[in-house]
Amino acid sequence: DINAPLIVVSNRLPFVLQRLKDGSLIRKNSAGGLVTAVAPVVIDCKGIWIGWSGLYDLGPDESIPEADPLDKAPTSGLKSSQVIPVNIDKEDFEDYYNGCCNGTFWPLFHSMPDRAVFNADTWKSYCKVNEEFANCTLDALRNVIKDLDAEGKTNVVPVVWIHDYQLLVAATTIRQKCEEENLRCKLGFFLHIPFPSWDIMRLFPWDDQILQGILAYDFVGFHIEDYCLNFIDCCCRRLGSRVDRNNMLVELAGRTVHVKALPIGIPFERFVQLAQNAPENLNDKNLKVILGVDRLDYTKGLVHRIKAFERLLEKHPEYCEKVTFLQISVPSRTDVLEYKALKDEMDQLVGRINGRFSKPHWSPIRYIFGCIAQEELAALYRDSAIALVTPLRDGMNLVAKEYVACQIREPGVLILSPFAGAGGMMHEALLVNPYELDAAANVLHRALCMPLDERELRMSQLRHREQQLDVNHWMNSFLSSMGALDNDDDSDP
Ligand code: UDP
Ligand code: G6P
Repeated sequence: DINAPLIVVSNRLPFVLQRLKDGSLIRKNSAGGLVTAVAPVVIDCKGIWIGWSGLYDLGPDESIPEADPLDKAPTSGLKSSQVIPVNIDKEDFEDYYNGCCNGTFWPLFHSMPDRAVFNADTWKSYCKVNEEFANCTLDALRNVIKDLDAEGKTNVVPVVWIHDYQLLVAATTIRQKCEEENLRCKLGFFLHIPFPSWDIMRLFPWDDQILQGILAYDFVGFHIEDYCLNFIDCCCRRLGSRVDRNNMLVELAGRTVHVKALPIGIPFERFVQLAQNAPENLNDKNLKVILGVDRLDYTKGLVHRIKAFERLLEKHPEYCEKVTFLQISVPSRTDVLEYKALKDEMDQLVGRINGRFSKPHWSPIRYIFGCIAQEELAALYRDSAIALVTPLRDGMNLVAKEYVACQIREPGVLILSPFAGAGGMMHEALLVNPYELDAAANVLHRALCMPLDERELRMSQLRHREQQLDVNHWMNSFLSSMGALDNDDDSDP
């Protein structure tokens, strides 16, 4: 059990608000790993969630609606009193979100600096919006401390847990105010994307402020050790911090920050249940499905993946009418230029390949540009012979884990890129370099021919690991590392 009040802060709330024509508000749930992981804990411990509401015209006293009573999403138990929306001016938000978060940090942190735009104005908006998130968090923290003091719980230290690359410098303001006003709290941060090497980080003109921002936390979590070591290296080389790589400590201005690799997991049992309850697939049983599921994002390697599938059909025409590639591409960040260009490139590529290979009753690629509910996704995972998860770079990648959880019948094969965080841990998957089209086509052929006993062996080991290291394990490890759990036996730092 968590032993202190919890305040979670992320760019998005676990749902966005939409205004209906009559002016009333409704909640629309956001899917994704962070929400499914953290929401049950916040609900359980009656915590608070601070984030952007999705609206620019939310009145200061307007109340957030409760969830629809029929809503079964993991966030439905979150009461409106537990949610604090951050209101941000439209222009600032767009410069912060489209400009700096997704035009600069997203490509830079995924080691694709040529796609990154460096701009002093959007960076200024980023800092301003981070300060607004910080001020909102401070207001909540003051109230939480007031309540604790009124109950005589003056030893209890609230936990503030901030998420992801949108809020890298929010802790700078929070720490400063906490020191000025003598407010007590533990500040934790988790980055859901990779942390790049010093070679890449140093390209950002204000890299020192980013690093100092992250060092304003007490505890910082990354998915894998490589990202931790990159961060420590950057602090050492840019700021001259004293560092201890063995114990993952960074010291700056007399404070020590603890860094730790905490690979996120999925709600494994939930996906097993979804796969058990999902409707039967009406597909032709003789047609093997290769499945791809991603946001439409250039980091996901979609263009390379489709070209690798084309290469497979060129080398092995026997797969025509026997195999189909189903790619689900969720619209994402559609106001950012790079994403618009990718949409056009994908549309053209899919059209060209389908035109080249289709038969009257078969097309090689089925392409969905849209979002699918996880209930429906579970059936696709369950019934696909292969999951093709080949990002060029990815912090972790939950799709690979969800596919494995849903393999409750005759097991399929996971093909995975070593450049995803998951690639370093899911050893029984077939690993392939997504840039190497021939190798990717060969691995697809190998997966399509893999004997049942080999598939069973690989899948049972993959499933066992994901079941053990599920999202609850990740949550507990993070909170325990912050010393926020009762009966901790692992309460470093
Ligand atoms: N997802 C979804 N519907 C879709 C496609 C994806 O709900 O149509 C979910 C998927 O189940 C997974 C998340 O979106 O939980 C994607 O997470 P991942 O780590 O793979 O990639 P990210 O989008 O965070 O980069
Ligand atoms: C990744 C990021 C999240 C982000 C999500 C969806 O998973 O790590 O922080 O919320 O993508 O992107 P969006 O820009 O739509 O929030």
